[in-house]
Amino acid sequence: MASDPRLQTSLCGIPLRNPVLAASGTYAYAVEFEKLVDLNQLGGIIVKGLSREPIAGNPPPRLWETEGGMMNSVGLQNIGVQAFVSEKLPAIRKLQTPVFANVFGYAAEDYLEVVRVLEDAEGIAGYELNVSCPNTKHGGIFFSSDPALLAELVGQVRKIAKRPLIVKLSPNVASIAPLAKAVEDAGADAVSLVNTFIALAIDIRTRKSRIGAGFGGLSGPAIKPIALRMVYEAAKTVKIPVVGLGGIRSGEDAAEFLIAGASAVEAGTANFWDPQSPLRIARELGKFLKEEKIANVRELTGTLSLNR
Ligand SMILES: Cc1cc2nc3c(=O)[nH]c(=O)nc-3n(C[C@H](O)[C@H](O)[C@H](O)COP(=O)(O)O)c2cc1C
Repeated sequence: MASDPRLQTSLCGIPLRNPVLAASGTYAYAVEFEKLVDLNQLGGIIVKGLSREPIAGNPPPRLWETEGGMMNSVGLQNIGVQAFVSEKLPAIRKLQTPVFANVFGYAAEDYLEVVRVLEDAEGIAGYELNVSCPNTKHGGIFFSSDPALLAELVGQVRKIAKRPLIVKLSPNVASIAPLAKAVEDAGADAVSLVNTFIALAIDIRTRKSRIGAGFGGLSGPAIKPIALRMVYEAAKTVKIPVVGLGGIRSGEDAAEFLIAGASAVEAGTANFWDPQSPLRIARELGKFLKEEKIANVRELTGTLSLNR
């Protein structure tokens, strides 16, 4: 299928047929969706977070549906970077769609090792660093909430990563601007936000958490207005592209994020009710551009006038 020229754009120099990517942790390692979705029609795919060693993940229950969203505590279960390269990359390599590796760790050395392994492999368009983990070497301080720690990590990864580097910010902070700035100054090519909001759901009969691990990360439409505000703040602060996400389920939602300052968007939770969601969102966005007589989606980015 020919791509709509209105939707064609690029991210960190990578051409995208449309600006809607599938978000990490909601599209497995991409190739599992091959029979359900024409993966080559997607703007891009971010695979599930990859760590140095395989991780079994958290105890069940791992998911809980909330009003307007869901909570998860999958615990970053994954097959580890080595198995990803040998078992998943050969099929990923055949796709035309850019596939990004989402990378995480508990110390800078973990991130560096994952990126080193991927640097030696073909088939990945770029990296998305998930910095929402507690740093085990610094007493459990979250990388995502300390600009100095974050800058140090990004700077080290930058030195070894030849591919584009997107850093995914957590919304669980008082102010997003200093973190976005720290990431830009440390050499990232783009920031993406938001990851999930730390949340709690309670079973009042047992007086226990609905989630096996205690807290879970809230995602879906419920978080969209907060995500939009944070994307706006980040985009006002940095010159590098911002990738916006958080509760996007329609072309109109995607347009809101672009207007707030995003250059591309990701859809996550929407894939749980329909893995075709990114394609539908892109189609709806194209329809909106046509209706508004906008020649290319880039023209939308950062056009918000906040004060009426
Ligand atoms: C089940 C599940 C697993 C996720 N796993 C990851 C992950 O491995 N790495 C990551 O950076 N984000 C992960 N996320 C966060 C999403 O990529 C996204 O940032 C978040 O859900 C907000 O977007 P949404 O409201 O469109 O889902 C996960 C989200 C869900 C729901």
